[in-house]
Amino acid sequence: MRERTLLIIKPDGYSRNLADPIFKRFTDNGFTIIERRDMTISPELAAQHYAEHKEKPFYPSLIEYITSGPVAVAIAEGENGVARARELMGATDPAKANPGTIRGDFGESIDRNTIHGSDSLESAKREIRLYFADQAE
Ligand code: RTP
Ligand code: MG
Repeated sequence: MRERTLLIIKPDGYSRNLADPIFKRFTDNGFTIIERRDMTISPELAAQHYAEHKEKPFYPSLIEYITSGPVAVAIAEGENGVARARELMGATDPAKANPGTIRGDFGESIDRNTIHGSDSLESAKREIRLYFADQAE
């Protein structure tokens, strides 16, 4: 089934001009980029996005980092899109991500890991609504 997922090229990737080459990896793998928006995420939006991590020790640095500079946010649609995007991204910690995955190739550290992708269909719907209110199903 074709599914939509939310991708964010994080500040480390955006500042190295990796948004276009990373989105190309998705389109080369059968995804369509439905919508793209370049922006700097506000602390309020970041808090909504990462609400599930509010009690984690890394939460303050996560919010500080994701709001630290411009990012590219996109809705990507593809077959089995949520899980397939996570495969293309690789493990959260770039040190553990396989070569050939986005984080394996470009990630700098577990904090500066270049890309976000929704972790479930439910998360994807919630996140698409957050960043693209007019695209909600
Ligand atoms: P994301 O939400 O950014 O796509 O990453 P993810 O699903 O692979 O990982 P998640 O568990 O949702 O964590 C969100 C972000 O928090 C940072 N993190 N740091 N120090 C740590 O143990 C730790 N764990 C997670 C990462 O930057 C991760 O992308
Ligand atoms: Mg996550």
